[in-house]
Amino acid sequence: MIILGIESSCDETAASIVHIDSSRVQILSNVLASSASIHVKYGGVVPEQAARHQLESIIPVIIEALSQAKVNFEEIDAIAVAPGPGLIGSLLVGVEVAKTLSLIFDKPLIPVTHLIGHFYANWIEKTNLVGSMPEFPCIGLLVSGGHTDLILMEGHGQYKYLGGTRDDAAGECFDKCARMMDLPYPGGPNLAKLAENGDPTKFKLPKPMWDSKDLDFSFSGLKTAVSNLISEQPKANVANAKADLCAAIEQTIATVLVKKTIAAANQYNIDRIMIAGGVAANQRLRTLLKEQFSGTVYIPESQYCTDNAAMIATAAGFLNQPVDPLDLQANPNLSLAY
Ligand code: KG4
Ligand code: ZN
Repeated sequence: MIILGIESSCDETAASIVHIDSSRVQILSNVLASSASIHVKYGGVVPEQAARHQLESIIPVIIEALSQAKVNFEEIDAIAVAPGPGLIGSLLVGVEVAKTLSLIFDKPLIPVTHLIGHFYANWIEKTNLVGSMPEFPCIGLLVSGGHTDLILMEGHGQYKYLGGTRDDAAGECFDKCARMMDLPYPGGPNLAKLAENGDPTKFKLPKPMWDSKDLDFSFSGLKTAVSNLISEQPKANVANAKADLCAAIEQTIATVLVKKTIAAANQYNIDRIMIAGGVAANQRLRTLLKEQFSGTVYIPESQYCTDNAAMIATAAGFLNQPVDPLDLQANPNLSLAY
């Protein structure tokens, strides 16, 4: 199958052409236009601006994806799109364009929940750092800007929700802590960069829900602890210790994520773990998980951890459940928990 994937859930407009058969997933093109530079001065995504940028970028991005892949609409077997979750204004752009293209060119339309799409970055050829297609059953940890979820994946489209964050997502915690330290948007990668030169043991931070017997997470207490720590210290001290504080925050988030993910694997007696989402690009998380888990760990290449359309097209190839284009609606609240 040759699939056109479209992804527009937040501040990235993405289109990708993917060739999928039973043994390999080849990316023929993967194009992305980001409005992140517009949001820098606000310290976070401004939904209205993001939606306007989606509208301007979507057609050029799709045309570029087709052109780079040297594929025309007649050669495409299906169109995939993420109807949610995300920002409604942004989602509407991708969904309505995908519906329109599906009707005009008479191609099946396959919706892919953005969160499930993230996991499929691990199916892209040679990108999951193991080198072969993932196998089931597998524990999946999704860590993105808006979500932190643990699932048991039993097959394509078959999963069981095991737990998730009760408040802030891991990425949100990275971003908010970064903002408190005056680091530029997007906070996560900038905090991680500073953390490289820091000593994670210099600050003691709480490990949220460390001893809870469930598979849930909580990150708002950590955010508050960082806020208190910053306000209690003289400004100069914080400035001098920024790298250490970043390292401590990163270490705390990564340690909690790894502990609960391995606990899920042990609880269900599963020797495979897969991570996905923007925070899966975090080097400390990747290293810690590989060090502490004796089974197989699937981790996407960093460029496929953050939002992209190749993961949406890939997921569509495996899930392959087309819908009537006239029935598909953008849904900002789609969730893995049910
Ligand atoms: O999956 P994603 O691109 O978008 C959502 O679906 O939310 O994830 C974005 C999140 C942001 O919170 C960003 O700060 C975080 O992923 N992120 C990172 C890193 N790269 C991206 N967090 C920590 N370390 C990184 N290297
Ligand atoms: Zn995402």
